[in-house]
Amino acid sequence: MSASLRRVGVVGLGTMGAGIAEVLARGGYDVVGVEVNDDALQRGRGHLEKSTGRAVKRGKLSAGDQQAILGRIELDTSFASLADCDLVIEAVPERLDLKRRVFEELDKVCRPDTVLATNTSSLSVTEIAVATERPEQIVGVHFFNPAPVMRLVEIIHTVLTRPEALGAVQDLVTGLGKVGVTIGDRAGFVANRLLFGYLNQAAAMYESGHATREDIDAAMRATGLPMGPLTLMDLIGLDVSLEVCEAIYRETRDRRHAPAPILRRLVTAGLLGRKTGRGFYTYGEPAAETGPQAGEAPSVGVAGSGPLAVAVIRAALRAGADVSFVAGDEAKVRAVREAVGGDVTGGTDLALLADRDLVVEAVAEDVSVKRSLLAAVDDVAREGAVLATTASAVPVIELAMATDRPQDVVGLHLPDPEGELAELVPTVLTDPEVTRRAESYVARLGKHPVRSADRAGFIVDALRVPYLNDAVRLLEAGYADADAIDAAMTYGCGYPIGPIADLDRIGLDHAVEVLRALYTEYREPAFAPAPLLDKLRTAGETFR
Ligand code: 3HC
Repeated sequence: MSASLRRVGVVGLGTMGAGIAEVLARGGYDVVGVEVNDDALQRGRGHLEKSTGRAVKRGKLSAGDQQAILGRIELDTSFASLADCDLVIEAVPERLDLKRRVFEELDKVCRPDTVLATNTSSLSVTEIAVATERPEQIVGVHFFNPAPVMRLVEIIHTVLTRPEALGAVQDLVTGLGKVGVTIGDRAGFVANRLLFGYLNQAAAMYESGHATREDIDAAMRATGLPMGPLTLMDLIGLDVSLEVCEAIYRETRDRRHAPAPILRRLVTAGLLGRKTGRGFYTYGEPAAETGPQAGEAPSVGVAGSGPLAVAVIRAALRAGADVSFVAGDEAKVRAVREAVGGDVTGGTDLALLADRDLVVEAVAEDVSVKRSLLAAVDDVAREGAVLATTASAVPVIELAMATDRPQDVVGLHLPDPEGELAELVPTVLTDPEVTRRAESYVARLGKHPVRSADRAGFIVDALRVPYLNDAVRLLEAGYADADAIDAAMTYGCGYPIGPIADLDRIGLDHAVEVLRALYTEYREPAFAPAPLLDKLRTAGETFR
């Protein structure tokens, strides 16, 4: 427990306020929860009982401890009950006028030394602070949803905040077992600034028909994220998501934060996500069955000898498929055999690909090399074969046009060559029957196919790399250091790796290549590589 703060008030017991009250009570604090009326208070009590009840059901909390936690939370509808609190955290809806009114009221009822904190996710803490007579006692404490689970708390100081007030809140956060990241007052702080560009872009991607909601979510989950972006927005609440995007847009004028029209339509219709039972998804309906694909694995031919080719051959061997491959010279043929560790038919003659159901071109990302190889494959592959090209930063149609049968060509992008995800990319000329066949072949090879339009970055890179670039811009602006930025995303959103570390992992070359492809296609200024990223790449350096 913090030495200076013992009794803590929470104003607003919605999803976030109730979660914060629970965290504080679990941490041993006496908590006073205030809501506008008895109905809202009952709802708040319901949140608290449900959340702690869930922990009891999972055997994480004894019934006695649950009672002790709930017993530490006093509930009231009057601000007067906050009079002797050492700290009050406001968690009312994200409207500046409403928050300012709450702070004016708190300023009247609380002791002069009480620290007043706001859990705003994107509004200006400074604008809230100046509504009071004690702006030096105002701090931002931004928890993440679900508050009892997510470890990050962003602690925001304004130009007016007293170091003692900031220090007291930092001690409280650490004492609660959370990870505090202290930063200045900018719209979206670190985590939401990085998260909502990505979430809004995912909503726009769904709306434009680029991919289905299930495929967008599955693709991003396959990169290790705990939830897909559309499911996450349903969890956060589409009303909150809309407000956060608007607030960041107001400050940055970056149109990637201008809310996707679908977000506004859903909110207008009252479809706010999980809390109303429907948002991007409808809750409470049985999930559609997507059982494993039955049927034999296709015969597979692979052209190439790099890590991608090896990964495809390995997957095909694991699936029990008949595989052959073609490499540039005998040494490469030997290297592939060694890498896959199996007895697999291979050589330098493209005729080895002649009778295959699926031929995968998996050579280096060089358009002219890929085009001439595809033209040569076109000459030997049997009629009816599916031709797949592993382009990652080149439009698939540009490659398909090197053959005389573009209707049989699909893109096959493996964001992580050894991972389960396969982005399948039909072009404007691909025969729908070929796409369906390609999809079932890929599934039988043990991959999870998601369909993407033939747009730069497909799904994963189009959503991931701009977010990584945004993280570099925050770093470059000196707003937060690399450790704080990485901590924000790992502890705040459950990412397996922070963005700066992720850039070093995926390679700066690849990131810049994808950004250039995205920029060329969309002419979106924010897709231009951040200067620091480009310079480090040119210097052959990494971030750490
Ligand atoms: N309240 C309390 N505990 C909860 C909970 C809730 N609402 N939801 C889940 N939990 C607990 C479970 O009891 C379980 O605890 P245990 O491991 O001790 O038994 C644990 O969390 C895991 O839960 P589940 O097994 O039910 O579910 P998952 O493993 O799928 O995890 C998740 C659920 C923790 C929500 C995970 O999917 C996740 O991390 N998602 C990302 C969430 C995220 O990004 N949050 C940030 C949003 S942005 C934000 O809040 C900022 C705001 O300003 C908009």
